[in-house]
Order: sequence, then structure tokens, then C-alpha cells
Amino acid sequence: MKTILSPSMLSADFAYLERDLKKVEDAGAEWLHVDVMDGNFVPNITIGPDQVADLRKVVNIPFDVHLMINHPLQYIERFAEAGSDIITVHYEVQDDTNACIQLIRQCGASPGLVLSPDTETCVLEPYMDSIDMVLLMSVYPGFGGQSYIERSTRRIREVRKMIGDRPVRLEIDGGINMETLPVVLEAGADTIVSGSCLFKGNMHENIRRFREIIAQFE
Ligand code: DX5
Ligand code: ZN
Repeated sequence: MKTILSPSMLSADFAYLERDLKKVEDAGAEWLHVDVMDGNFVPNITIGPDQVADLRKVVNIPFDVHLMINHPLQYIERFAEAGSDIITVHYEVQDDTNACIQLIRQCGASPGLVLSPDTETCVLEPYMDSIDMVLLMSVYPGFGGQSYIERSTRRIREVRKMIGDRPVRLEIDGGINMETLPVVLEAGADTIVSGSCLFKGNMHENIRRFREIIAQFE
């Protein structure tokens, strides 16, 4: 599978969101990673479906919407209507995982399941045939700019093995920079989220350097 770059808008300057997100698109990123936080599942708050709908007007690449909210079932439909292409829900939330996955699919979006760093990868097993992507958190969800948790590398290997030849993507999110990118690619990640590293300095140049590293693994 071709490696996909999904820059996280969490690190954009929200006063200049259109300008910053256009940079992501112009630099050739495949997806935009949209972090949705409810101040409950995680100790931070970002945006809701109305803001996602607004962003849809100025960004054309697929939206990879990472729901860090305790009750996704209530909101999945609205996020899908707002133009989310991929919707990922955490295994750790209170709502039923199967119901979330099915609803995402019914709404015409692509479902993914997210694991926080302390959740065993084996919990994924029953869902592997009904999802399009696994998202492994390599930091504790809630904030950009944290350091990559080393044991995530072993977790990527475990999930890569579990995926086998299924058409399921393996996304990694948290602390990905020029040093950790080769590590996660080697372990088997094929979808890369990066916020603070890509938004620091020149987006074009940063993405070019990411691609150079990716090319060594393809
Ligand atoms: C954290 C978010 C991430 C975050 C990654 O809860 O899910 O998507 O933006 O940011 P960096 O790349 O700075 O770790
Ligand atoms: Zn995220």
C-alpha cells in the first residue's frame, strides 16, 4: 500500500486556518488529519461538525477525522454529513465499538478503530474484518507536540502481523518527526500523522523530507 501522509491540523494557526490548510494541500499531502476533542475523553477541546463542514469549503483532500470524544454514536452522522471521509473512534470510549463502526459505514464514510497507548493490541482482533484502518496512538491523546512513546514500535509490529493481507491501513499518530518516521515505517506503519513537526518551518520542505525518508521504504 502506498504510504499516506495525514498532517494534523491541531498544529495549524487557527487564526489563519485557511492559509495553513491550503499549505497542507499544496504541499501534496494525501489527507488532512482532523483532531476532534470533547474535553471529556481527553483534557482538551477542539472543533465540532459545524467547523468541519466549514473547512470542507476550502480543503479538497480527504478528511481523516480522529474522534477523541466519549459518545461518538451521537455525533458520527453529523461528522459524516459535514464531509468526513475517514472517521476513527477510540476503543476506550463508552459507546459500543461495533455500533460505531457500522454507523460510520452506513453514513458512507470509512471506519477506523483507534487504540490509546495502554490498550492491548489484541482487542482489535474481533473488528479486523469490519474496519478499513487501525490507528495506533504513539502518545497519550489530547495534545500535539509530545514525544513518541518507544513501545509503540512493538505495537506497530503486532498490528502489522494481525492485519496480514487484509486491505486495512495502519496509521500512527503522535511524535512523528524526521527521527521517528523511519522507525515507524520499518515497523510497518503505512499512514502517517504528523502535526508539530510538519507545521514547524516550511511545510513544503518538511513534506519533501518526509517523502525522501518514505521512498527508502517503498
Ligand atoms: C493528539 C492528536 C495528534 C496530534 C499529533 O491527541 O491525536 O493528531 O496532533 O501531533 P504531533 O505530531 O505534534 O505529536
Ligand atoms: Zn490525531
